[in-house]
Amino acid sequence: MPDSASTSENRPLRIGVLGCGPVAQAAHFEACRKAENAELYALCDAADDLRERMAAVHQPKAQYASYNEMLADPAVDAVIVATADAFHIPAARKAIAANKHVLVEKPLGTNLGACIDLRDRLSETGLTLQVGHMKRFDPGIAFARRFIQERLGEMFAFKAWYADSTHRYDMTDATQPVIKESTQAKTPAEDPKADLATYYLRAHGSHLFDTARFLGGPIEAVRARHTEKAGPHCWFIEVAFANGTLGHLDLTVAVRMDWDEGFRIYGEQGSVLGKTFNPWYFKASEVECFSEEDGEYHRPLGADAHFYRRQVEGFASTILNGASLQGTSIDEGIDVVRAMIATARSVDSGRWIDLDDVDGTL
Ligand SMILES: NC(=O)c1ccc[n+]([C@@H]2O[C@H](COP(=O)([O-])OP(=O)(O)OC[C@H]3O[C@@H](n4cnc5c(N)ncnc54)[C@H](O)[C@@H]3O)[C@@H](O)[C@H]2O)c1
Repeated sequence: MPDSASTSENRPLRIGVLGCGPVAQAAHFEACRKAENAELYALCDAADDLRERMAAVHQPKAQYASYNEMLADPAVDAVIVATADAFHIPAARKAIAANKHVLVEKPLGTNLGACIDLRDRLSETGLTLQVGHMKRFDPGIAFARRFIQERLGEMFAFKAWYADSTHRYDMTDATQPVIKESTQAKTPAEDPKADLATYYLRAHGSHLFDTARFLGGPIEAVRARHTEKAGPHCWFIEVAFANGTLGHLDLTVAVRMDWDEGFRIYGEQGSVLGKTFNPWYFKASEVECFSEEDGEYHRPLGADAHFYRRQVEGFASTILNGASLQGTSIDEGIDVVRAMIATARSVDSGRWIDLDDVDGTL
């Protein structure tokens, strides 16, 4: 194995970030710099103005206009793929071919066949691939998951909702750094926002399905309705979980009020109630878990809620120390892609769609 993937020495993981767009500027650069076991070693963007500005601010050891050149740098252990959705799979495939570990932004991909092909290629390597569903690193959601595993007993009902807010940019502009844009940025041939329903399902639905998968377990089938009435897009999605739990998801973009995201889960020995905040507040979900065993509600303070930094630290500790993957695996990322495609197919047909039966692109 070349040096780049061999990280047994006691040193931080050297990360190269592909893409200097909004998510890298608002999350990944700082996450890598603050992580206790990783460093922002390199950044890469085809847009010279963006890359040079970000390099001046974050001072990586190296900067590249060419992704191939960053991948050829033996000092890079791992890459974060922070590009438009359509580039995720090709960029992750190249990283694996260059023997680099990968943290790829959500959703894993847009085409199911290409996601499966990536899994096949990954399985022939000893590399780590994690999908950037960072809500798993929300300490409130992680607490809910532990309660479900240890104290809930059999789960029978699961409801979750995710409603973006029409006022979100007032909120995010207040907390994010000033985002630099560039006319030189590399963009997909097809405008991702040309079909807004598909764009919302991918951008927001991917988070909702990952949370459902994380807390409720594998999903077998969905039946979905969609409306675009008075502007907003709204999906009501019935979910059949493999463990027999009845599920319901509500995805709305956007509600005329504050951000509204959460979950309600009922089980044999308790219940879990969760309220999740706009991620750019870096505030842990407020979670209350009632246990029949002691007759008490349990409510954590998730003080350290830099999901993106915690995500990088989890990724790095898997690679450096062999810790089990805390984030979304490639199989789970594929499940999310399947669930999104199944939702779109069900909207079209009005039928229940088995996740195993879907194919194609979203
Ligand atoms: N997890 C989250 O909370 C969250 C939030 C926002 C966005 N995202 C995801 O992050 C991803 C990126 O979003 P964005 O808005 O920052 O994207 P963007 O398209 O605005 O920026 C990506 C940058 O990557 C560069 N780039 C792309 N391919 C390149 C290549 N081969 N070589 C060199 N440079 C290249 C582009 O020039 C561009 O500047 C999306 O998939 C989105 O879904 C996640």
